[in-house]
Amino acid sequence: MKSFFHVSDIGDLSKALEEAKQVKETPFAWKHLGENKTIMLVFFNSSLRTRLSSQKAALNLGMNPIVLNIGQDSWKLETEMGVVMDGDKSEHLREAIPVMASYCDIIGVRSFANLKDRDYDYAETVLSQFVQYSGKPVISLESATVHPCQAFADLITIEEHKKTRRPKVVMTWAPHPKALPQAVPNSFAEWMCAADVDFVITHPHGYELDPKFTEGAVIEYDQMKALEGADFVYAKNWSCPGVTDPSQYGQILSKDMGWTVDAAHMAVTNNAFFMHCLPVRRNMIVSDEVIDAPTSLVIPEAANRVVSIQVVMKRMLEELQK
Ligand code: CP
Repeated sequence: MKSFFHVSDIGDLSKALEEAKQVKETPFAWKHLGENKTIMLVFFNSSLRTRLSSQKAALNLGMNPIVLNIGQDSWKLETEMGVVMDGDKSEHLREAIPVMASYCDIIGVRSFANLKDRDYDYAETVLSQFVQYSGKPVISLESATVHPCQAFADLITIEEHKKTRRPKVVMTWAPHPKALPQAVPNSFAEWMCAADVDFVITHPHGYELDPKFTEGAVIEYDQMKALEGADFVYAKNWSCPGVTDPSQYGQILSKDMGWTVDAAHMAVTNNAFFMHCLPVRRNMIVSDEVIDAPTSLVIPEAANRVVSIQVVMKRMLEELQK
């Protein structure tokens, strides 16, 4: 595996889920693979789960993780080509990436969308420079448009808890005070469309995700109707993806608290499990009683972040041994 950005990078999902099961049961069984190997984890943005689960997975595989917080531990980096660097950014990615790559075998990158320029974000401008200039396998640790490690962990969690062969999974938009990127819903949609589930997306008008991530999904604008009979409810906020009106890209179009997932919403489901990638704003995205209920999977979902990224790292290490 040369890179991990999309569901297609993991190949057959049943095989990946079986591998995830093995990794979860025997996390140290592949410790020899990472001997004398280093992974560089580069963070342009904050993180709790991704940072810790990546380090834990690397250690389980016998690898040395190095974490770099750009702008705090390092110089501030310029990411755009052709600019006069007369501001506060002291170094360009063009030099920083090959330097970082010379110290490691695999690179993980967290670099959020700026939500100002849709073309810049959807071209994955930062992540693609890591691919172009590092010469190393690259993992998206949530980049401008995708968060594949999260989506894979979500799929593992659904597989572990499903009560029917083909469960109904509903991803619902929910309100948030700040404009958030579309990486999590994009990847969740992409992975659910490839998985053996009935997948429904519900959101207010104007929040349509990029169709390249939602092919095969049912879009239902009536949230209650969408939630009827759901086995899993996946809540997430995202800002306007700018699909129907590019001038609205990154904007907050609604703060309708009627979309907050509460007991009344869960009552129309098939006693559904509640899921969220975390961090979550309580009583904005989800009510206390729903996230605190026994049917809430937010903690096992976060725990599975170690499993998902360990499968990815393991495959990259196996590839490096060839
Ligand atoms: N879900 C997730 O990626 O969490 P962090 O932002 O804390 O890494």
